[in-house]
Order: sequence, then C-alpha cells, then structure tokens
Amino acid sequence: MSEIELGITADMHVHLRDGKMMELIAPTVREGGISVAYIMPNLVPPITTIDRVVEYKQQLENLSPKTTFLMSFYLSPELTPELINEAASKGAIQGVKCYPAGVTTNSAHGVDPNDFTKFYPVFEAMEKNNLVLNLHGEKPAKKDDEEINILNAEPLFLPILEKLHSDFPNLKIILEHCTSKQAVEMIEKLNSGYKPGDKVNVAGTITAHHLSLTIDNWAGNPINYCKPVAKFPQDKKYLIEAVTSGKPYFFFGSDSAPHPIEGKARHTGVCAGIYTQKYAISYLAEVFEKKDKLDQLKKFVSDFGLEFYDVDTSKLKNSDKCWLVKRKFNVPEIIGNKEITVVPFKAGDELDWQIEWR
Ligand code: NCD
Ligand code: ZN
Repeated sequence: MSEIELGITADMHVHLRDGKMMELIAPTVREGGISVAYIMPNLVPPITTIDRVVEYKQQLENLSPKTTFLMSFYLSPELTPELINEAASKGAIQGVKCYPAGVTTNSAHGVDPNDFTKFYPVFEAMEKNNLVLNLHGEKPAKKDDEEINILNAEPLFLPILEKLHSDFPNLKIILEHCTSKQAVEMIEKLNSGYKPGDKVNVAGTITAHHLSLTIDNWAGNPINYCKPVAKFPQDKKYLIEAVTSGKPYFFFGSDSAPHPIEGKARHTGVCAGIYTQKYAISYLAEVFEKKDKLDQLKKFVSDFGLEFYDVDTSKLKNSDKCWLVKRKFNVPEIIGNKEITVVPFKAGDELDWQIEWR
C-alpha cells in the first residue's frame, strides 16, 4: 500500500497562538494535511468573550482560508451560563477548555479542579448546548506537598474526571492528551457499556508525540518537553494500542504547541509544548505502519473526532481530501523566519509518509 485516503482530517487540539507566531504557524495546519482544527484558547489574556473568539477565528481564517477552525473558551469565573448560551447559539464556540491552575503553559488563570462545583451551572449550560468540555487532566501540586509531581499528576486527576462524568453523564467530556496507562484504562472504563452505533460522551485525545516519546527523551532534551510529560515505555504501549484500536473514544488531538527556540533554552525554566503540526500525520503514519494498522489511521485522524464534535462536513471551508503517500522526506531542522524560529518535533529525521490534498 503506497497511498491511503484519510478523507476529512481533524486535529482536535491545536495551539496557534497570536501575533507573529500565529502568522507563522496557522497556515501549517493546512500544510500538515488537517481540514478541521479545534483551537486552544490559552492566549495571554485567555479567550473568554464572544467578541474575542470571533475576532481570533477571523484572524485564523484570513491566514488559512481553507481550514475549518472550531473554537473554544478558557474555563474561568468570567464564564456564565448566559454567555455559554449566547456563544453556542451564535456558533462562536464548540467547547470550553479547562486548565488546572499552574500545570502548563499559560495556565495561570486556570481553575482548581479539586472543587468544580462552582462551575456546575456553566457545565449544565454546556450540556444543554452540546458543547465539549476539554480537560487538561493533571492535578495541580499544592505548595509544600511533594506527593503530586509531573509523573503522577495525570493518574491523580482521573477520579475528578470520573466524578464529572457521573455528575454530567450527557456532557461531552474529553480527557486531552492522555499519556498514561491509567488514563487509557479510565477512558475504557467510562465507555465499558459502549456498543457500535452508540453516541460517545467521554473520550480521550492522544497526540502524535506521546506515541514515540518516553521520559528519557525529554529529561535530556527540552524540545521534547511538554505537559503532561511523556511517561514510561509501558504507558506508550497502551497509547499505541488505544490509537490503533479502532475504538471511537480515542481520537487525534496533536497538542501541537509551538514555542520560539529561546523559550526552549532558558536557564529560568523551559516552556512546555512540542510543535508537531505540520508533520503530525507523518509521525502518526510511522507508528501505525509499524503496528501494521495503517488501515485504522483514518478512523483516528478523521471519523471519530468529527463524530464526537458533531461536525457537519457539508459546511466545511473546503472539501479537499487528505491523502497519505509513501514518499520519504526529512523534517526540517527549523521552521521560521527572521523573527521567529521553532524547532519541529523529530527535526532532521527522515520520515516515510507525506500528505497530499486531492
Ligand atoms: C501547551 C502550550 O504550550 O500552550 N503546552 C504543553 O506542554 N502541552 C499547553 C497545554 O496544552 O498544556
Ligand atoms: Zn494543549
């Protein structure tokens, strides 16, 4: 097999930033073979108003007119049920992203997930409007408490997910960028009654980079540092099983998160985030091919995400189909211009599969 049709592809977790970085990165979603992208709201300041989200979407569309952008709000006390109702009725957002305070890049305005009850009216409004709640699933560490760390923060978050799903069984919830065996098992558990044809309400997205990284790869290399961090080989194995399983509650969210190279080489602390668009589909293809599961790739990068988000594919910005073509290329060492340099994931590596629009 040297060509595979992936159809209308979807990356349901993308950071495109603003300003000069946005200008550089927004077009690479299309260049990377993605039709539909769900955009993260963790700008500075975070996106919490209809005017701002509409303006941001317009800026992105100007830079990449053929990409369909799905937009999100940043969960914060400024969000009210009325605002959610209005944003949903205008089609301004498809979901709300929840960042526990302090766990990752631009999460300073995040929330305390140990007590979500004050957001319950917002979640009720989201449930009613069929919006998605996107969870960054890491439990924040408390001051002077060393029991929570970057390796166990995700497993420790899972009971919070379980409770939310049980309190809002009809709210669509995603555990974003699953990185651990326990996360995969929790998503399986919450879908244990699933039968083909059922609607999925709780899902996990999985990135491309977590299918090839483990702890050793980021401990010595800030380019591979992201949150949640890549865990152990056994966790990676579970993630690869999940993405190739053909189960509709696991689908693609790259968490492509560009940082200027200076942010990756600071003595004051390294920025979390790995830039994987525009080669994310090529990274995935390597993993699926190795497992002899290339026939499952379309479900993971197209069908399941579109289904979960109820994307109406007759209303996209364009109807081109993404094809995967077996043709070697080298990931560039850097992408950028005079002002910004970003080092892509697997910089310099030779990959086997490229994408084409047809
Ligand atoms: C993301 C970023 O840089 O915005 N970083 C990351 O490590 N994944 C934020 C996030 O999604 O956690
Ligand atoms: Zn992210």
